[in-house]
Amino acid sequence: MKAKVIILPGDGIGPEVIGAATDILQSVACKFGHDFLIKSYLLGGCAIDSYGTALPEETLEACLEADAVLLGAVGGPKWDDPTAKHRPEQGLLGLRKALGLFANLRPVKPHPDLLEASPLRRERLEGVDLLVVRELTGGIYFGQPRERRTHNGEVQAVDTMTYTESEIRRVAKLAFEAAGQRRRKVTSVDKANVLECSRLWRQTVAEVALAYPDISLEDLLVDAAAMHLITRPATFDVIVTANLFGDILTDEASVLSGSMGNLPSASLGETQNRHGYPRGLYEPIHGSAPDIAGRGIANPIGAILSTAMMLRHSFGLEDEANAIETAVAATLSEGYRTVDLAPAGQEGLSTQDIGQIITGKLA
Ligand code: IPM
Ligand code: MN
Repeated sequence: MKAKVIILPGDGIGPEVIGAATDILQSVACKFGHDFLIKSYLLGGCAIDSYGTALPEETLEACLEADAVLLGAVGGPKWDDPTAKHRPEQGLLGLRKALGLFANLRPVKPHPDLLEASPLRRERLEGVDLLVVRELTGGIYFGQPRERRTHNGEVQAVDTMTYTESEIRRVAKLAFEAAGQRRRKVTSVDKANVLECSRLWRQTVAEVALAYPDISLEDLLVDAAAMHLITRPATFDVIVTANLFGDILTDEASVLSGSMGNLPSASLGETQNRHGYPRGLYEPIHGSAPDIAGRGIANPIGAILSTAMMLRHSFGLEDEANAIETAVAATLSEGYRTVDLAPAGQEGLSTQDIGQIITGKLA
């Protein structure tokens, strides 16, 4: 297969983890006889520095023409001034919106040998295998107006949460379809006891559910869901929720896997690439981690597993995706650990070293 992959390393540890992910992508190409044309562009803080904007025209055009996009992370203290006109995160949000990526898939399945790396007790973690489907282009992240204004003589800030039925329906459908390939359970998370958006969410999800009689539907309020994710994580299969709730709950869920650095994600929409698969954006769920950036110790597993998701969802290369996932699992089974996963007293491996070990295990 010939495919065009755009990489957006971004800021902080982004370039480090994308370096490891690109190496494994190139190894896969070599081993399985594919031709991946990989090109790098700027997004986020680094783009603000060079272009004065977080999502340069050039970057957006390249992504629109690509078969898939692989992203590291954006943001950092350098661009954190709350009064700044340009912020790195605008680049990422703008890209998700421009590519129409309404669904963000975040699978959480702790590796059996990493249960000790989580602060939760082993009994709670056994059997955890869940998929969060986060709505990604709507809700309070994008609603208008969003501004500062004067109200009764003082400064007031406003953000707006909106959802249309069609926005809810399409992401709910995707969640039910995913559940059909898994354990046939969907948990819809909202705040329907307070928010009008959530009442529409709950009603619309229930309507979508009618077309999937063999899939069970559970509704949970987001505060309760936050608790149940810790007290009974193994009972979840697919969780579908709004943009902001999904953002928060997936950081929480990452604790189940032992480290936030382990988790990949795939953002999908309606548009297809030239191979007839969704043209997705793939990124680890972690941020730019400015505290450890530049030290070569970031965990690249989330980025590497995002590459596997890219091969599966955007290229239909199931064997290649499995090969990467198996290599990661074998590396962990053999006891190799990055700094974030190393037990007390064990020195962690560098980003490059663990990347090379994983690449060496590609079947
Ligand atoms: C994520 C991140 C982003 C989000 C930030 C960087 C804008 O936290 O992908 O989870 O909130 O969506
Ligand atoms: Mn987040």
